[in-house]
Amino acid sequence: MIGNALKTVRKIRRKSPCSFISAGLVLFLVCFLGFNDKLLSHDAWVPASYRGHLSGYHNRDLRTIFLGGNVSRLQFKGTDNGRTAHKLFNFKNGRNLTATTELNLGKVSSQTGNLYLTQTDNDRKRRLPQAIIIGVKKGGTRALLEFLRVHPDVKATGPEPHFFDKHYQKGLDWYRSLMPETMPNQITIEKTPSYFITKEVPERIFQMSNSTKLVLVVRDPVTRAISDYTQILSKHGKSKSFQSSAFLRNDTTKINISWIVIRIGLYVKHLENWLSVFPLKQIHIVHGENLVTNPGEEVRKVQKFLGLEPVITDKHFFFNERRGFPCIKKKLKHKRGHCLDESKGRPHPRFPESVMSALRRFYRPYNEQFYRMTNIDFNWT
Ligand code: A3P
Repeated sequence: MIGNALKTVRKIRRKSPCSFISAGLVLFLVCFLGFNDKLLSHDAWVPASYRGHLSGYHNRDLRTIFLGGNVSRLQFKGTDNGRTAHKLFNFKNGRNLTATTELNLGKVSSQTGNLYLTQTDNDRKRRLPQAIIIGVKKGGTRALLEFLRVHPDVKATGPEPHFFDKHYQKGLDWYRSLMPETMPNQITIEKTPSYFITKEVPERIFQMSNSTKLVLVVRDPVTRAISDYTQILSKHGKSKSFQSSAFLRNDTTKINISWIVIRIGLYVKHLENWLSVFPLKQIHIVHGENLVTNPGEEVRKVQKFLGLEPVITDKHFFFNERRGFPCIKKKLKHKRGHCLDESKGRPHPRFPESVMSALRRFYRPYNEQFYRMTNIDFNWT
């Protein structure tokens, strides 16, 4: 093909300098088209052998590759200037490869010299969640979900699906259709805080998958109740006073346990129901107050629980003085970050000290039981 092109160039050269330049261009194009397959080839290297735990796919035609797992030795077979060659990687103490790990395989492996361990679009589909934030309402569940979303291996639903409490009869296919598309190495997660207090939900989740990872964000039940009431006020405008709902009508010292705003805070009672189905180690409990003061630490623990690389670190968070809450940067290099909308972090109404101390007194024994059940002292007053 190149020989023919050279002949054409010689013929044209005799004619005019202008056509000579065009012929040069033709020759360049021919050479480029002849070789560009090699230059652009992303699939010159395929995994040949490994030691350790490796899972993944490679697809020569689609020029993409995905590998994941803990490996100590990984060998690629490929072509180096037309010759078969091997590239060997030895990882000290093993290395966890993820879909975003880059290995430098040398100049012929791709245009950039890197083999990107990404997956083919064929692997992308909707999956049932492997992890669910089950509650608690007003605990900081939205903040946690928004923070986790920054992780490249996490995909989350937007609105709360309410499948296991309100739409269970619609079936798992309906539930799956609400999920975002994910790659096999990504975790699908949803949050519906009412699951925590709904009796039937643990068993239903167990029926879907007994390995579902559960995340529960808890916060001092007194402030949680006030936060819940603040939300009712903002949604419905005028509402009954907090005191008239929180206390029994004929006894202003006795708490009205049947009011949902109060009942949600009896964490030990709800958790008991979950522990009749799931072991405690399958429920990760997030300290709601700490999620505000030290979000990096709480998110680090959640990443570990979910088996994720610790991608989100303290550096992703910054404190927004005006809002009084932490916000998150989606990428470290970004100057600006993402804060939750104004419906999160509303100013709370203030109640007389007598109301506050009655609430604290009421919750104290339940809290203590909750600390014992979870082996965590949340130190609520
Ligand atoms: P308040 O609005 O009462 O302050 P949920 O998302 O579960 O409904 O919880 C809402 C609560 O999340 C808010 O309650 C707020 O205290 C808490 N929160 C935790 N981290 C936050 C953050 N980074 N930004 C805004 N609110 C946050």
